[in-house]
Amino acid sequence: MTIFRLLVLAPVVCLSLSSLADTDVEISIQADAPGAVIDRHIYGQFAEHLGHGIYQGLWVGEESQIPNIRGFRRDVVEALQALQIPNIRWPGGCFAEEYHWKDGIGPREERPTRINTNWGDVEESNAVGTHEFFDLAEMLGADAYIVGNVGRGSPKEMAEWLEYITADNDSALAELRRANGREAPWEVPFWGVGNENWKCGGNMRAEYYADVYRRYTTFLKAPSNNTPKKIASGGYHLDTAWTDEISQIGSKIDGIGIHYYTMVTENWVDKGDATGFSKDEWFAHLAETLKMDNYLRSHIAVLDRNDPEGRIGVYVDEWGSWYDVEEGSNGKFLRQQNSIRDALVAAINFNIFHRYADRIRMTNIAQMVNVLQAMILTDGEEMLLTPTYHVYEMHTLFHDAVAVPVDSGDVPSVSDGDISIPMVSASAAISKGGDLAVSLVNLSPDTDVSLAARVNGIASHDVSGRVLTGEEIDSHNTFATSNAVRPMPISVSIEDDYLRLTLPAKSLVVLSVQRSSGQ
Ligand code: AHR
Repeated sequence: MTIFRLLVLAPVVCLSLSSLADTDVEISIQADAPGAVIDRHIYGQFAEHLGHGIYQGLWVGEESQIPNIRGFRRDVVEALQALQIPNIRWPGGCFAEEYHWKDGIGPREERPTRINTNWGDVEESNAVGTHEFFDLAEMLGADAYIVGNVGRGSPKEMAEWLEYITADNDSALAELRRANGREAPWEVPFWGVGNENWKCGGNMRAEYYADVYRRYTTFLKAPSNNTPKKIASGGYHLDTAWTDEISQIGSKIDGIGIHYYTMVTENWVDKGDATGFSKDEWFAHLAETLKMDNYLRSHIAVLDRNDPEGRIGVYVDEWGSWYDVEEGSNGKFLRQQNSIRDALVAAINFNIFHRYADRIRMTNIAQMVNVLQAMILTDGEEMLLTPTYHVYEMHTLFHDAVAVPVDSGDVPSVSDGDISIPMVSASAAISKGGDLAVSLVNLSPDTDVSLAARVNGIASHDVSGRVLTGEEIDSHNTFATSNAVRPMPISVSIEDDYLRLTLPAKSLVVLSVQRSSGQ
């Protein structure tokens, strides 16, 4: 029998001034029906040599006036540390398909300047290369997910990069690494064999790429205790034929990298604004992000057929909101603001990823700093944390937690014109510490939800929680008002088997329900 006691946390948050009357919603959580582990790598990041994602966003160089740790901005590194980032995908994206790793080793002043032809034809100094990337990853406690160059590279070049990173013998490449200042091999748990090889990675057909993949991976050799999982480039959106072809490669493949961006556009030119959008755009964007569920289900159905034992993982290694670039910025730098709507995009996708946790081994939001749906925006010395940053921080409870079922079958929809979206998105898991973590999103732009969550399987407990919301549908942080959107405590009451709380319109709430001692 489950026994709860009433507990109210102060202070009560008073938000959503423009909210309409509450809508009652009931869900139920089966805390006693453990499912798959939510791999912490689902909370991964992506940092490409694109715009100010690396240079100025992360790297300012050791001589900079901006406080830095061996060239990386101290403020950004410290903020990122709070996210417990499990992995970073680097150096691209499309950039990876033109990147030659030997350009990025040795004395920085001797490294060649190249042109970043994918992202604005700007000069690439190669100041951040393999050694700098691993230094950053180590500072953040993150695993490395390196993407090798298939399109413009060669099997030899890719094999040598892996050898340079992992060799623990006296090979010439291991000696070169040592001469460049790194004695011990680095660990590289994940290796991408190309990026979007159906487009910027070579415009290949699935059959051709499958053979190219077989060839490249034949030569990817590393010590047995440091052999990366190999991730093939996936197809575009609903291209399940690509997944079908690639998943038949056999034991040389550990995962398929699927990309899906939330973008409302007919022509890739008008993608809408990140702020200042209408309620119609709110609905259209969230409806678009919810398609992730169907995309994943479709690809997973193919994998379930070709790989019934579940060996091949789905790596959603690029995803997030993509809008028109910020006014006045370089059109190829993909810089955009980030509002409470994007926070909800992140949280909704996490709930979807949790649902498919048995197949999804990693995801990487695009991108970590200053590019697309970023965690952090910088401008010169200034830095701000975006609403999406807070979503990642609030979800650290879910890292390596065990998913439990949430029944939200009776959740009503909210509509705008002919678009209907569910009012509430939810997921729950038993955290590594044994408590129940619950993530709740109110997708309505203007209606609060009176939520009753029936919890089965946990006896008496305490609960704490935080809410992330904003006054407006495009509330966001600026360098002048950098705390407009930030997590706040929320009040939750616990009666009998129910958690009861108000989910403000346009909000994310994350709860931690503590087991009482003796359970
Ligand atoms: O994230 C920006 C770009 O989007 C990546 O370089 C590419 O892989 C994708 O098309």
